[in-house]
This record gives sequence, C-alpha cells and structure tokens, in this order.
Amino acid sequence: MNMKPLIAAVFAACALPAMALEVTLPAETAAYRPSDLPGYRLVQQNCMTCHSAQYVETQPQTSPRAYWDATVKKMKKPFGAPLRDEDIPLIVDYLVKTYGAERGSATPVAAAATAAPATAAAAGAPRSVDTLLGANQCSACHAVDKKVVGPAFHDVAAKYAGNADATGKLMQSIRSGGSGKWGQVPMPAFPQLDDADLKTLATWVLSR
Ligand code: HEC
Ligand code: HEC
Repeated sequence: MNMKPLIAAVFAACALPAMALEVTLPAETAAYRPSDLPGYRLVQQNCMTCHSAQYVETQPQTSPRAYWDATVKKMKKPFGAPLRDEDIPLIVDYLVKTYGAERGSATPVAAAATAAPATAAAAGAPRSVDTLLGANQCSACHAVDKKVVGPAFHDVAAKYAGNADATGKLMQSIRSGGSGKWGQVPMPAFPQLDDADLKTLATWVLSR
C-alpha cells in the first residue's frame, strides 16, 4: 500500500489554515521597502497584521494614486483595518511612490505630457509653481484656502506675514518636512528639491 498520497493530503490540510491565519512569508518579500516617507512607518504599524507586503509587491507598478487610495480605504472598510483617516493619505503617498506609478520620478505627470520641458528642467531651467506643486504632490495635501492634510497655504502666509526670514524658514520646512507646527500629522521631506525650486514654492506660498 502506498502511503504518499495520504501523507501529502494530511500535510496540505494542516498547512492551508495556518497560511491563511499567520504571516509566515520569508522576510525579504514579507517586509515593506524602507523609505524616508512618513507612510513607511505607518504601513509597518498598520499593514502587517493581516498579510505581508507581498500583496502590495504584486500590484501593477503602473497603479496610480487613486488606485492605492481605493485599496487602502478597502482595507479599512470592509476589511476592518483599524486605520486613522488622517494617516491614509500618507500611506497612499508612500505606496504610490514606492510601488506604484510615481516611483523614482520627480516629474511624472508633467514629463508624460511633454518630454521637452522635463529635459529643460533637468538641465537647470527654472520650473513653474504649477509643475512643482503637481510633480511633488503638494496639492494632494494642501489647498490655498482650506486645510486638507496640511494647512491651507493662505493660513501659512498669514502666520509668517511680517516674519523677516519667512522665505528661508519655509524653504527649510519644505525641504525637511516634519510635524508639530500645525498638528501631529507629519509633512514629508523633499530633499530632491534644489534651492531654486524651494524658493519658487516658498515665495508662492507666502503670496497666497
Ligand atoms: C484587517 C486585515 C487587513 C489589514 C490590517 C490590511 N489588509 Fe490588505 N487585505 C486584507 C484582505 C482580507 C485582503 C483580500 C485578500 C484576498 O482577496 O485574497 C487584502 C488584500 C490586499 C491587497 C491586494 C489587492 C486587493 O485589492 O485585494 C493589497 C495591495 C493590500 N491588501 C494592501 C494593504 C495595505 C497597504 C494595508 C495597510 C494600509 C493593508 N492591506 C492592511 C486584509 C487586511
Ligand atoms: C503627505 C502630505 C503632504 C504633502 C505631500 C506636502 N505637505 Fe506640506 N504640510 C503637510 C503637513 C501635515 C504640514 C503641517 C506640518 C506641521 O504641523 O509642522 C505641512 C506644512 C507645510 C508648510 C508650512 C510649514 C511651516 O513651517 O509652517 C508649507 C509651506 C508646506 N507644507 C508646503 C508644502 C509644499 C510646497 C509641498 C510640495 C513640495 C508640500 N507641502 C507637500 C502635509 C503635506
């Protein structure tokens, strides 16, 4: 009598429920890719309880921000992940920039529309406020006249009005990110922006 099929069947019966309940994948594929973005810490805290990072790894790399937003919201409802609403944009930001359509490119939208200005920007030509706001997703978290994830630019301008070194302070804030000036939610750092870009943005914010 051949025992092999029976052993295989018993093994499969034991292994399957265990896989469904526990995260037991090899460390390399199970872990989220390290990043300086604030969402990295949040996915480690919030996204490892039910499944590993492998579900994220296997999503199409072309997935846009809206796709990640819908996916993370689905984890909260109906799947029941205990996510705080204010953390969701930061998680989405990390996911789209690490696994999705915005990987490694500072100018995804603008570059797709017209290749020539992107090359000019790389060569050091000044970039417009609209390009900078769009390419760096500032507008995902900020609006001029109302609080979104970050403060309204109008309120930032009002707070720094009359401050002698307002431009320098805001250039530093945008470059380094951080939290505590407007609330507990952190602003991501933008180390890839050079002084010219930072000055364009800071000057524009202060004029709102
Ligand atoms: C409460 C449990 C739970 C938590 C916490 C959780 N997920 Fe999920 N996740 C699920 C379930 C259930 C599925 C669906 C599995 C399936 O269809 O086989 C899933 C599937 C996915 C998928 C596959 C695509 C899809 O739409 O099914 C991705 C990507 C994903 N999760 C990302 C995340 C991220 C990012 C987080 C943290 C923000 C997270 N998950 C937290 C339960 C969870
Ligand atoms: C993921 C969300 C997010 C993105 C993207 C983002 N910000 Fe912010 N921003 C915030 C939050 C949150 C704060 C408040 C931080 C605090 O309380 O200290 C903030 C604060 C600021 C401030 C005020 C800083 C100060 O010193 O008072 C400025 C100016 C600003 N952001 C500009 C920008 C610009 C320009 C971009 C794009 C290059 C950008 N932000 C991208 C969330 C974001």
